[in-house]
Amino acid sequence: MRVIDLRSDTVTRPTPAMRRAMAEAEVGDDVYGEDPTVNRLQEVAAERVGKDAALFVPSGTMANQAALRSLTRHGDLVLATEGAHVLRYESGAAAAISGVQVRTLGGAAGPTPEELAAAVPPSDAHNAPATLFTLEITHNAGGGVILPFERVQELVAVARSYGLAAHLDGARMFNAAVATGRPVREWAAPFDTVSFCLSKGLGAPVGSLVCGTREQIGRIHRIRKMFGGGMRQAGILAAAGLYALENHVERLAEDHNLARRLAQGLEAAGVGLVRPPETNILLIHSPDAAALVRAAREAHVLVGALGPHTVRALTHLDVSAADIDLAVERLGTAARSL
Ligand SMILES: Cc1ncc(COP(=O)(O)O)c(C=O)c1O
Repeated sequence: MRVIDLRSDTVTRPTPAMRRAMAEAEVGDDVYGEDPTVNRLQEVAAERVGKDAALFVPSGTMANQAALRSLTRHGDLVLATEGAHVLRYESGAAAAISGVQVRTLGGAAGPTPEELAAAVPPSDAHNAPATLFTLEITHNAGGGVILPFERVQELVAVARSYGLAAHLDGARMFNAAVATGRPVREWAAPFDTVSFCLSKGLGAPVGSLVCGTREQIGRIHRIRKMFGGGMRQAGILAAAGLYALENHVERLAEDHNLARRLAQGLEAAGVGLVRPPETNILLIHSPDAAALVRAAREAHVLVGALGPHTVRALTHLDVSAADIDLAVERLGTAARSL
């Protein structure tokens, strides 16, 4: 029986055309800055995101944590949204590597400007200095939601008025761009550093980019080396990323349509949702999320539990409308069996 894997948009396999691009990539030693394909990817990424420079790194976690390391000092306070990936799913890296405290604010919809302003502690001997504000777009744990554009501008303006730098965890920022029709460079504009992933909805096997000013990326380059993220003939991977940026951005709309199709099908089958999907992530409500995940697995649908009552399903390059219809049927039966 066909297994339908909706656990993550990271489970995709490179397409034959992407594999050809990888096989044919011109390569060199990127630790010497001599890999022409990596250099090209970094130029294209910087141009797309509207920053001076970009650096290819092995993962979204490294992109975020290298940016965090470059923008903070040990003992600083970082303000983030509730459930932020940088805090919740990066293995304690912000504390372990950068020695920062992270305080989360607001729900997945982010804090209000007033909440953000109130969270900046006074500058005195008692408080950790707040030096960085970070947002996540789309918000993973929030179910792929997109903070309204105007709200993003307001929040970053408040952060700046208190002297904080701003980092965007844009792992899925291309999903936000396609869903809103607003180019990534506009979402990225107010931030000092911006990370995005090639290995999620864009369908590449490996890699993320971190973008910023030339000076900032210079610092992050050194931090990447310190983290062990310098790669050699990485052009083979960068070629997949270039292919993805050229061929897999507009098609993210199909993933969003499939997430809506999944949501509508599940609702019609009597399965509750946490909220309607805005992009490619759907949060399903269940009285017992772990039990639903197990029952779904037995029915050959893979999903993940995000909390005791929340199941997460993502659409991606490797699922079709027919797969989603099958998933609706199987998940509906699984939910009724609990
Ligand atoms: C919002 C967000 N940021 C960062 C990451 C980290 O990416 P990676 O798994 O490549 O380290 C993820 C991965 O799921 C994510 O969803």
